[in-house]
Amino acid sequence: MKAVEIKPDVFWVGAVDWNNRDFHGYSIKKGTTYNAYLVRDEKTVLFDTVRQGFKSDLLHHLHHVVEPEKIDYLVVNHVELDHSGCLPEMIELIKPEKIFCSPMGQKALLEHFHRPDWPLVVVKSGESISLGKRTVRFLETRMLHWPDSMFSYLPEDKLLISSDAFGQHWATSQRFDDEVDGGELMAHAAKYYANILLPFSPLVDKLLAQVQAEGLEIEMIAPDHGLIWRSNPGAIVEAYQRWCRQESAAKAVIIYDTMWHSTEKMAKAVESGLLAEGINNISLLHARRNHRSDIMAEVLNARALIIGSATLNNNIMPAMADVLTYMKGLRPKNKLGAAFGSYGWSGEAVKHLNGYLEEMGVELVGEGVRIKNVPTHEALADCVELGRAIARAMG
Ligand code: FEO
Repeated sequence: MKAVEIKPDVFWVGAVDWNNRDFHGYSIKKGTTYNAYLVRDEKTVLFDTVRQGFKSDLLHHLHHVVEPEKIDYLVVNHVELDHSGCLPEMIELIKPEKIFCSPMGQKALLEHFHRPDWPLVVVKSGESISLGKRTVRFLETRMLHWPDSMFSYLPEDKLLISSDAFGQHWATSQRFDDEVDGGELMAHAAKYYANILLPFSPLVDKLLAQVQAEGLEIEMIAPDHGLIWRSNPGAIVEAYQRWCRQESAAKAVIIYDTMWHSTEKMAKAVESGLLAEGINNISLLHARRNHRSDIMAEVLNARALIIGSATLNNNIMPAMADVLTYMKGLRPKNKLGAAFGSYGWSGEAVKHLNGYLEEMGVELVGEGVRIKNVPTHEALADCVELGRAIARAMG
């Protein structure tokens, strides 16, 4: 792969990580990229670096454009190690005149690398620096998704370098949205939002309003992961507007774990009830057969969240605890739902599942359905009715 000129004298110089499959617990089945960008002007600037282990890719791409020693400035939009893992080695090599970061970025850099001797220059929201023919304007985006995160906006190029926001974990040889399948691209972007940005949705909403109020003209969005949005950056901004408001479709997600298939039969009966009332956008997800991060991608735009578990040792099945603990941290909103589960003798699972739903603010439809041991056809009618009741509540 070569450096890619994304705008005149603005280059993608990052790295493609084809083989990573786990991003701190988020399943990335098609790898990812660590995007870094170089702007060549009177002052040459490198925006972010790459994860440790990918320095040679970054250097290889830089060498196509400029000798690294000739870079004047570094901009650290985000300190997380997938973007700053190579920072100490790159600083050693480049010896930059200045390293620009947000106020929280300064703290994070010192706490990560313990190098008070680095030439850090703190920039706040609205501040700009001149590179010669063009300027860079900074916009702090605290908690999107770390306290240090910021955007860099190049007004002359109408280019937003957006750090993690608008990114996707997807390793490709292509660099632009119009070179890949649009549906798959948006699915990767949705999964990224559901697993990284969802808890910060109110802040995303505010940020999008601020960008609109300031009238930033955006022709291209260059995130730190995945494809660059050049053909229609408005499409991903509109998607973020929907996702941050947690708008839902007439869709139900049934997540369950089962010991000897009784709870699974209940899950299918709930599905039948939903179908009988006209809800046909349903995902039936076994918690041990689907990764928690794929489950979250399904939950993102679902109106109904229905969860089931057999009782195991007076509790729920561990895979359900994994999924629900993860989900609770991501703070999905605007859901209604219910719980179900089979049991042998004590039968506490539904009580625990209801507890998770209540903690997540899910509007409960009924008290849940419990069935002892193996359900009869007649007993499953309660689950069908649960599905019907949820469908009716979905309107
Ligand atoms: Fe891609 Fe928050 O780092």
